[in-house]
Amino acid sequence: YEVEWTLEMAEKAGYPHFMLKEIYEQPRAIRDAIHGNAGVIEDVAKEIAKYDKIFFVAMGTSYHAALVGKYLLQRLAKKVPIVEEASEFRYEMEDLIDENTLVIAITQSGETADTLAAMKLAKARGAKVLAIVNVVGSMATRIADLTLYTHAGPEIGVAATKTYTTQLTVLTMLATALARVLGTASEEYLNELESKLKEVPELVEKVLKHDGALRELAEELKEKRDFFYIGRSIGVPTALEGALKLKEISYIHAEGLSAGELKHGPLALLENGVPVVAIAPSGKTFDKMVSNIEESKARGAYIIALGDNESLKRVSDVLIEMPPMDELLTPIVYVVPLQILAYHLAVLRGNDPDKPRNLAKSVTVE
Ligand code: AGP
Repeated sequence: YEVEWTLEMAEKAGYPHFMLKEIYEQPRAIRDAIHGNAGVIEDVAKEIAKYDKIFFVAMGTSYHAALVGKYLLQRLAKKVPIVEEASEFRYEMEDLIDENTLVIAITQSGETADTLAAMKLAKARGAKVLAIVNVVGSMATRIADLTLYTHAGPEIGVAATKTYTTQLTVLTMLATALARVLGTASEEYLNELESKLKEVPELVEKVLKHDGALRELAEELKEKRDFFYIGRSIGVPTALEGALKLKEISYIHAEGLSAGELKHGPLALLENGVPVVAIAPSGKTFDKMVSNIEESKARGAYIIALGDNESLKRVSDVLIEMPPMDELLTPIVYVVPLQILAYHLAVLRGNDPDKPRNLAKSVTVE
């Protein structure tokens, strides 16, 4: 009796798809991102500390990482960066770039044409360019003045998963290091945040245990046509990323938005049974999120809440229980169930999540 093994099967290490394997690799990848950057992050922080005019440029999932980066730099380093899609950067920002500007480019592949074009433009105008990249030696690392690696290892699935959570890990480390250099947060809090970050891989392990329940949920929701993802503050990029994951691999229409926007239009789209995924960790946004959940439920929406507060059980149809954590770390952990849900929906609808239609792993034309 012989088992035929192809190279691809061996590379998938027993997982049915690369995407699932890469989702499960996240605890290891986050640990590697922390260890890989521990020795260099302070020097990079020192080099960029003097810049007050800061831009983030990126596309897709990396753009969502940049949005999280903005919240982190605001909260910890008291800097207020502008986040631009790299493809939009040139039209409005070109004249604003000078040698007093720092441009932080985030790109998994280091080969995304729009992001490279924005970086080149920034360099030509004398800006300092820092790249956060996964692929070693890629074009972005050659253009940038400084590079931080995400150390996620190769990502084969078109959907970015472990490269996103490691981008967020690096951004958390960078914002923490910058706050230390600038003295914008207490040493005690920064030390605590650093040690909490080291515990994130274990939190992700815990959340991965929801896999079975998320598969059952996907079974229930696989015929739905529209999904809404809502969050507030640092939870907004998670809502956007959850929606992007769903769109790109399950081909279900999804919108991610700040919960506060609901009443200003999108609420009109809610009717019986429309799934609303609510990012609802404890903290300063919690009470308002509960009101948004209640107003969605009153329109008949099917509420899937992610949070650590028992009271969510009362207002939601399904609660994905999350471990408690510092609000600044929630983007890394809360995206994981959203990746898994998108994965199962894609598979149950008969799609290959590793190779979604019309998409390429890196977009090398503008
Ligand atoms: C994410 O799942 C997508 N495949 C896509 O949005 C991707 O993040 C985007 O194309 C940017 O790629 P990069 O990080 O390699 O620059």
